[in-house]
Amino acid sequence: MGLSLLSSKITKKPFPFMVNWAITGNCNLRCKHCYGSYGIVQKGELSLEHVKSCIDEFKKMGTRRITLEGGEPLMHKKIIEIIDHIHSKGIEMSLCTNGILLEKYIEHLEKKVDLIVLSLDGDEKHHNALRGKNNFQKVLNALKIAQSHNIKTLVFSCLVDENIDDVDYLVSLAEEYKTNITFNIAVAKLSGKNKRRSLNRNKDRAYRSAIKKIMDHKKNGAPIYYSNDNYVQAYNWPAFTAETLKEKSNFKTFIPCYAGINYCYIECNGDMYPCYQTVGTLKVKNIVKHGPKEAFQHLSTLDYCRHCYNLTLSELNLQCGLELKSIIKVIKNYIS
Ligand SMILES: C[S@@+](CC[C@H](N)C(=O)[O-])C[C@H]1O[C@@H](n2cnc3c(N)ncnc32)[C@H](O)[C@@H]1O
Ligand code: SF4
Repeated sequence: MGLSLLSSKITKKPFPFMVNWAITGNCNLRCKHCYGSYGIVQKGELSLEHVKSCIDEFKKMGTRRITLEGGEPLMHKKIIEIIDHIHSKGIEMSLCTNGILLEKYIEHLEKKVDLIVLSLDGDEKHHNALRGKNNFQKVLNALKIAQSHNIKTLVFSCLVDENIDDVDYLVSLAEEYKTNITFNIAVAKLSGKNKRRSLNRNKDRAYRSAIKKIMDHKKNGAPIYYSNDNYVQAYNWPAFTAETLKEKSNFKTFIPCYAGINYCYIECNGDMYPCYQTVGTLKVKNIVKHGPKEAFQHLSTLDYCRHCYNLTLSELNLQCGLELKSIIKVIKNYIS
């Protein structure tokens, strides 16, 4: 995995080592904190033929991992065929899901999907308040189903004002279920205009103290995924009111960004962005209209932020930057 990245670093030739793909804009939930308007504003989905030919193209470009997300990826009518195709190309695959439809598809996912990322956003009260009635039990059920089919799982918790005090609970839940867990801090809506309600705007201290708790749990051996350096960077972030920065700024714990260099994000209509935080802020190209290669090459010509506190993206940055600990962790997570 590291050789192609190393060669990309030496030759300074970008390539999409990882592709994060919002494969559908449909969704069976309307989560309060969701950065997208999924299921409400219908956006055109790509045809299966287009998806397959783009996967073939990504394979040729050197892509090693595709993460399917959305919307809800299991709502895509051709999700089985898409998963089969990615698998047939020998590309590692993660599926990020709310878990509701997991039971229906589990037989098809077994031995094909390498990692199921399940969104679980707090204790029962807070998770259901954010994601809708009875969904807490449904996601726990999905976790058990994935585990009973021996598929590697990762619980993913998005921290917002409502669940900011649930870190201890979530860590003990992950320990009880013997799964890895990771956290991210919610970002604003992906319109580029930051129109959403005041999410994590005035609670810097509460977010910093949640991150400190996560670091302490990690130090004490809890199954916290993502590198400590990543949490340290978020802890030291100047103020959570600014999600991204163009300049390195004057704080020390800086992780270089590889968005648009070694990974990219694709919207359900095929528009390719460096990462999901840049959606709506750039004039980008489309993987069907222009082809994945041209759409990816175009990213290098754009001027966008070069730094963020986003824990998910910083983890990708650490992996693409060949940070040893994060690479070992990825390998372990996929093979153990
Ligand atoms: C948009 S969802 C798509 C996959 C699937 N529907 C799900 O909920 O897991 C992908 C991930 O983004 C997270 N997410 C949603 N809103 C977010 C926000 N405002 N900031 C950061 N992450 C967010 C979700 O919790 C989920 O883990
Ligand atoms: S977070 Fe996931 S499940 Fe919730 S509305 Fe957004 S896409 Fe749908």
